[in-house]
Amino acid sequence: MTTTAKISSNNFGNDFLWGVSIAAAQNEGAYNIDGRGLSIWDVFSKRSGKIKAAAKPFETCDFYHRYKDDLLLTKALGFKVFRFSISWSRILPGGTGKINKEGIAFYHTLIDECLKLGLIPFVTLYHWDLPHALEKEGGWTSHFLLKWFNRFVTVCAEEFGDKVKNWIILNEPMAFTALGYMLGKHAPGKTGLNNFLPAIHNAAMAQAEGGRIIRSIVKKAYIGTSVSCSEVVPFSSNQKDIDAANRIDILLNRLFIEPSLGLGYPDDQFALMEKLHLHNKAWKYTERLKFDFDFIGLQNYFPITVKYNPVIPIIQASEVKAVTRNVPHTAMGWEINAESFYRMIKRFASYDNVKEIIITENGAFFKDKIVDGVVNDEQRIDYFQKYLAALLKAKQEGIAVNGYFAWTLMDNFEWSEGFHARFGLIHVDFKTQLRTVKQSGHWFRDFLLSQNEKF
Ligand code: BGC
Repeated sequence: MTTTAKISSNNFGNDFLWGVSIAAAQNEGAYNIDGRGLSIWDVFSKRSGKIKAAAKPFETCDFYHRYKDDLLLTKALGFKVFRFSISWSRILPGGTGKINKEGIAFYHTLIDECLKLGLIPFVTLYHWDLPHALEKEGGWTSHFLLKWFNRFVTVCAEEFGDKVKNWIILNEPMAFTALGYMLGKHAPGKTGLNNFLPAIHNAAMAQAEGGRIIRSIVKKAYIGTSVSCSEVVPFSSNQKDIDAANRIDILLNRLFIEPSLGLGYPDDQFALMEKLHLHNKAWKYTERLKFDFDFIGLQNYFPITVKYNPVIPIIQASEVKAVTRNVPHTAMGWEINAESFYRMIKRFASYDNVKEIIITENGAFFKDKIVDGVVNDEQRIDYFQKYLAALLKAKQEGIAVNGYFAWTLMDNFEWSEGFHARFGLIHVDFKTQLRTVKQSGHWFRDFLLSQNEKF
């Protein structure tokens, strides 16, 4: 496999969608002004003690006030697509009920500004920031979730559907249900199967219902949903390790995509799946869990290696970290493995009903070196070169992959990692809000210029 992208020719094609992704809770700040209600991340960051350095997303990189400049930077770096999410509690401060006009106005201006600059807006409806008012009523575990979500999606579609045609329903349902409702590491910090199982089912239902609502309201909509994926590698050829890897694979790679394709939930021999079926009577819902998505957003950062571990309840598996195995990894400890990215693209493309794929996130945290105002991040450049070469290989083999959005435009609030884990192409000084394009940003610009040349 080639390890560097051939950047001298237009090999991805003129129609390929190059973009950057950001998320409201990670970028907007302005958490308590202009009528916005609190989100679960505002409350979790105050109360849980689980965020590094007690960081809070209250101001973060202040995209709410600086979006014009940030869009100009996006444009200057050569991207065509700007993916952002809508903060539910900015639109509906109480989660449901009264609409906040100032919140609506903000997104109208943001969208107008994108269109003015020739940036195509891709809107994510839910990127992890549930209104706190709804969490008090049970959040993603509640029977009312679908009703609440329906209202939020309807408001967004009716308000913005004339201008925005590209919609992503959920961002990584596996991540927000597992980290937020099983492991307690993310907001709202809940744990245990009694929270996890209903949250899974409500998220899987919301993903399909959201698609249906957008389809019925927005003319000519291009609708997708974004799922995380990680190749799962057994630690050894021992059958117990292989079975353990299979269980994790169901959770990380199959749980949300398969019901959306009409395949129902995976029903392999796995205690957790049996419980999911029993708890939610899930077998009844195969039809409603399905939606004919125009594209699937794939988000890939790393593969994981897994071994059998009888101590872990139900899952009976644990990760053998990249650091322990002494393989190349990012500053998050995530294995760097572009070949694995290639294999995951091929694997998801091989599902019968997956029509098109867009890589809606991929990127890395490395400790950037700042010398004389220059942000040196060669490791990030190397990472992008490898992952883009892998993407190109899949594309050249005929896989319908139509876009790649880098995570992320600029350093922002990285959930439980706070502000120390920086994934941006642009460095942010969180004290002064000064933006400095990193060397990887400059590299991307040159790369995209080469892609846009016409031959
Ligand atoms: C999430 C982003 C996050 C990134 C890096 C993805 O799972 O969608 O919000 O910042 O990973 O951790």
